[in-house]
Amino acid sequence: MSMNRTAILEDFPILSSTMRGKPFTYLDSAATSLTPEQVVQAMSRYYLEYGVNVHRGVYEFSERATREYEEVRKKTEKFLGLLPHSPGKSPLGHVIFTKSTTEASNLLAYSYGRAKLRSGEEILTTETEHHSTLVPWHPVCEKTGAILKTVPISPQGTFTLDDFASRLTPRTKIAVFSAMSNVTGFMPPIKEMIQRAKEVGALTIVDGAQYVSHHGVNVEELGCDFLYFSAHKMLGPTGLGVLYGRTEILETMEPFLYGGNMILKVSDFASTYHPLPEKFEAGTPPIAEVLGFGAALDYLSNIRMDTIRDQEKRLLTYGLEMASKRPWMKVLGPKNPEIQGAIMSFNVEGVHSHDLGTLLDSQGIAVRTGVHCAQPLMEHLRVGGGAVRASMYFYNTEKDIDTLFEGIERAKEIFG
Ligand SMILES: Cc1ncc(COP(=O)(O)O)c(C=O)c1O
Repeated sequence: MSMNRTAILEDFPILSSTMRGKPFTYLDSAATSLTPEQVVQAMSRYYLEYGVNVHRGVYEFSERATREYEEVRKKTEKFLGLLPHSPGKSPLGHVIFTKSTTEASNLLAYSYGRAKLRSGEEILTTETEHHSTLVPWHPVCEKTGAILKTVPISPQGTFTLDDFASRLTPRTKIAVFSAMSNVTGFMPPIKEMIQRAKEVGALTIVDGAQYVSHHGVNVEELGCDFLYFSAHKMLGPTGLGVLYGRTEILETMEPFLYGGNMILKVSDFASTYHPLPEKFEAGTPPIAEVLGFGAALDYLSNIRMDTIRDQEKRLLTYGLEMASKRPWMKVLGPKNPEIQGAIMSFNVEGVHSHDLGTLLDSQGIAVRTGVHCAQPLMEHLRVGGGAVRASMYFYNTEKDIDTLFEGIERAKEIFG
């Protein structure tokens, strides 16, 4: 599949709809991407044709659901560049299905952080993090006495490899950071950061919630210990997250949730657990969501991740150029498409971000306003009151950017 506009409009009927009586312009994919027909079909096929539980039944429909569920796990591994392992040898890593990025982050904070960190040991993160990646480590520090350290950012919301590496110490046990900021789009040099963190023996955790939907990822090449992301930001359904983790570390960790599906043997007073990955998938999993996610991965693979990145780079370049002609617009972030994903957050002089968002809504334009679940970052960028975020995906066009700027001009006229 290429970037064929007719095909895209057919696959995403919502793009041809109206909002507030105006043609719908969607610039909020960093919150949740739109869902193509193929994903909805995969989910409704499951519910209508063989919608039963997995891993339990010995009958045909259950076997089919189980087989397809496990095939999506394999597809996800392939998407992440995880190579098939030789028979008899443990795979380098496992894909675990969670409810969300947020749940995956909590799983690591509980099952690794709370269990293994000791007083005085350090967790290194950055000032750019989403609350989902930052907040679970606060109680870990309270409970264990571990110390959270942050890498400071420049006024553009960036930091360098040296800024990061100079804060690593022999006491750093965990380095946790996002591959792409959901506010500025900044993409730090994660491969090098992982390497430097490993040199001091730290565990590396990458928040890929924004990055993975826009860029090819190869976990074997990256070398990270953990990577997590959400299906709903990459054409898939809500209610599903993915946690990739290195086998040798997952094996040392206690489960996060306990119950059915993850147990091997249970007596009145004790239980043993399934091997990986089921050990971390207690209860009935989000079956339809996993099957829908499989269709989303097919869709992305058909387009190709490098085509997606190229298209978004063009859109971002165009948007940044338009903004640079308007001195009353203050764009956050590096303003450099080489190190910035398809996100443009900004404020307009004299217009509160909420008012701007509301006015854009009245023109059929969907953007996000506020602090974007990244309060510390907004404070460090000195925009504690919030900003407007326009975020793009491959189904956006230059016309959407033009519509956005027409809306901004209108708001400026009305409020300015
Ligand atoms: C960088 C980043 N991390 C984590 C999350 C949390 O994802 P979810 O709400 O799907 O759990 C988001 C969602 O916006 C995000 O952008």
